[in-house]
Amino acid sequence: MRKLILLAVASLFVSAGVRSAEEMSVDLMQTIEDTNKSLSSNIALSNKAGATSDAKELTQMFADVETYFNHKGDASNAVDLAKQSKDLSNQIVGFVAANNFDSATTAATTLSRTCRTCHTFYKKE
Ligand code: HEC
Repeated sequence: MRKLILLAVASLFVSAGVRSAEEMSVDLMQTIEDTNKSLSSNIALSNKAGATSDAKELTQMFADVETYFNHKGDASNAVDLAKQSKDLSNQIVGFVAANNFDSATTAATTLSRTCRTCHTFYKKE
């Protein structure tokens, strides 16, 4: 039994080593950055159509980020943060639809904080 566990742990390390060679798509993060900026200004301008399409795009992109960290493994924190970001983006779609731009602003602020939290732990440099 102990041998089996050791073997499982060892293979975990090997696969983690291989997987960490895959990089998060920098293009994806750049698009997230641009879309997040656009979202903030669209919310500030009460631009319903613009904010809605930005928030929908972010919802989809964070779903991709979630999948990426799920596959990468050993990054449950990042999976949670990606999921939180996805949920916040989705909530913003709802707030904007209800013309509740105050709540949309609050959610967007929380979203931006979530970016930084994930970068602190998972972005090397
Ligand atoms: C779940 C984790 C996570 C979340 C949430 C996240 N990021 Fe990132 N981000 C990363 C990682 C990891 C990198 C580093 C990618 C690399 O260099 O391989 C990165 C890199 C970046 C970069 C640098 C890209 C480049 O050109 O090198 C920008 C800009 C960025 N993120 C913006 C954002 C913004 C804006 C948000 C929130 C709206 C956000 N990120 C949310 C994990 C995250």
